[in-house]
Amino acid sequence: MTTTQQIKSMKGKQKIVMLTAYDFPTARLMDDIVDIILVGDSLGMVVLGYESTTKVTMQDMISATEAVARGAKKALIVGDMPIGTYENEKEALENAKQLLKAGAHAVKIENKPEIAEFLVKKGIEVMGHIGLTPQTITSFKVQGKNEEDAKRLIELARACDKAGCFSMVLECIPLNLAKVITKSISIPTIGIGAGIHCDGQVLVTHDILGLFDAFKPKFVKRYAEIGNEMKNAFKKYAEEVGKGKFPDDNHSFH
Ligand code: KIV
Repeated sequence: MTTTQQIKSMKGKQKIVMLTAYDFPTARLMDDIVDIILVGDSLGMVVLGYESTTKVTMQDMISATEAVARGAKKALIVGDMPIGTYENEKEALENAKQLLKAGAHAVKIENKPEIAEFLVKKGIEVMGHIGLTPQTITSFKVQGKNEEDAKRLIELARACDKAGCFSMVLECIPLNLAKVITKSISIPTIGIGAGIHCDGQVLVTHDILGLFDAFKPKFVKRYAEIGNEMKNAFKKYAEEVGKGKFPDDNHSFH
């Protein structure tokens, strides 16, 4: 199994590959291809059909993490802590422990270096997440574009590093700012919409497969059109059933 130590040691040497998964078959398919599987709270939007990630519950994340853990034996599994589950130290610890019990090896939290530090002191591995943080933003726009905001993000990244996070997601920030942050901290940065200079990259699996089309941010690259493939299969099946062609002799018992 990939460890957080191994991920840390990849900084500057080898790009870190992370994708999201929320179920057993997807985790199984990507397990020996990616370094990290993120059970992201993007689950709320791409699987559960919510308009944002804010309705995702601990129970949603626990079920998804358990399914992913049944399918993945090699990759590091990181469980996202949903909004409202790490408001204070006590809640953060209780909820993080639940995700670890479900099979995650580490948890991810947005901002809040002080909570990260507390969890790390309690022996929990934490991935930070700064920049565009979907749990608390009101609109999807590039962060850190002015000097003041860029400085704030650099400070926040340093604080997460100091807190003991083993890595950090940088979401939707200009590539030059991501370069500065990546150079000024000791832990790997994993970018999503943060350019080429990050130590690794993450995308939402449903986005790269063409399974989520409510909107498509600029940073998403489609690597397949599985949504269209699925539709074609559904249509063929419906047609054959409708015409009495399925089941044929090969798919029937005698
Ligand atoms: O929830 C998620 O999938 C994430 C990624 C976008 C980094 O946080």
